Amino acid sequence: MLFRYKKSFEKIAMGLMSFMPKERELKKLQQTMHIYEENPDWQLFLWKKEDDFVGLLGLQVEEESYTIHHISVNPSHRGEGIGHEMIGKIQNMMQEREMRATEETDAFLKKCPVKKGDL
Ligand SMILES: CC(C)(COP(=O)(O)OP(=O)(O)OC[C@H]1O[C@@H](n2cnc3c(N)ncnc32)[C@H](O)[C@@H]1OP(=O)(O)O)[C@@H](O)C(=O)NCCC(=O)NCCS
Repeated sequence: MLFRYKKSFEKIAMGLMSFMPKERELKKLQQTMHIYEENPDWQLFLWKKEDDFVGLLGLQVEEESYTIHHISVNPSHRGEGIGHEMIGKIQNMMQEREMRATEETDAFLKKCPVKKGDL
């Protein structure tokens, strides 16, 4: 299940964010977290499995599209379909908006089926 980020999830969110290749350096990671905390159109979500947060999804929402900037899953839970599930849920939430990738997220998003609206 996807949960919207809040400050009390900061440590776990930073841990998951640091699996993104460009977020390994602490200073860069802190700047990225700041962007999500300060800009309402940058939205961060965590995926909870049983009692643990094991996935992270970060996007920038625009009027007719949204861009997936960050997606990561705890290495112990990779290959269980969580990445696909997060993308499926966000596509449902974003309804008719078009999903976009960045250079960093493109490879995985190309593997996810595109759907629009409340399927
Ligand atoms: C990418 C990531 C979020 C996938 O999460 P996941 O929950 O393991 O993904 P799923 O179980 O839903 O899907 C697994 C499939 O995605 C593929 N996959 C995993 N990482 C991938 C990547 N970086 N690029 C393309 N495909 C990838 C797997 O090979 C597998 O493919 P298969 O079904 O054909 O065997 C996870 O590997 C991760 O956290 N990676 C580190 C962070 C990162 O690099 N994010 C950007 C990725 S472009």
